Amino acid sequence: MTEIVRHSDAENLATAVADRFIDRLASVQASGRTPNVGLTGGTIANDIYRAVAASSHRSDVDWSSVEFWWGDERFVAGDSPDRNAVQAREAMLDDLGVPDAGIHEMASSDDGTLEAGAHAYGDEVREHGSGSFDLLLLGLGPDGHIASLFPGYPQLEVDDAIAVGVEDSPKPPPERITLTYGALNRSRAVWFLVAGAGKADAVARSLSRSASVSDAPASGVKGEVETVWHVDEGAAQAL
Ligand code: 6PG
Repeated sequence: MTEIVRHSDAENLATAVADRFIDRLASVQASGRTPNVGLTGGTIANDIYRAVAASSHRSDVDWSSVEFWWGDERFVAGDSPDRNAVQAREAMLDDLGVPDAGIHEMASSDDGTLEAGAHAYGDEVREHGSGSFDLLLLGLGPDGHIASLFPGYPQLEVDDAIAVGVEDSPKPPPERITLTYGALNRSRAVWFLVAGAGKADAVARSLSRSASVSDAPASGVKGEVETVWHVDEGAAQAL
């Protein structure tokens, strides 16, 4: 079932989702498992990461026992501030003391070709992944993209790879690595994170009964157990 949770504004969305994030990881750990989490890039995601780091509940989670992955990454230099991983480290992972062994970054342009980097991430997921994410976070673009799956792009159709390269992303930077639908859909819980009126049409399109993956890529991802859209008033205004 798809649930829509409305928050008054981006700031409240970030603090509420940060609390839920901490609770979810703590409860997976309490059940005796190591949580596998898929992170996203984007403005609202970074706000949430900062709110996690600032939370008074953060010690409810043993951060040395969480595996962090990415749904997509910008294929630029490894230390570029454009990297989703660099942004997540600065906003949250460094402060929480997450060990490098728990941070599964996608390849950067320092590591070789885009194609080899995508292939290598598929291997890493296969070798070290638990088989599915306990929680996958996804931002949404105003065009309806999630991860680096853009409307009308050929990566939407790939069903024989875990991760693929994108050479001409309409959102800069142009080169990216993204998980495919097959990998994204192996998630117990999927939380979409959307703030701002500029995303309202994309939210409505993604949630419409007649949504198609080719023009609303977010409509192709569902959690096995739970799918939640966290939206603020602006993003919810066309629902
Ligand atoms: C990226 C993202 C991308 C992002 C959305 C929303 O690497 O750019 O993973 O899918 O989540 O574009 O980003 P904003 O919240 O900044 O609009």
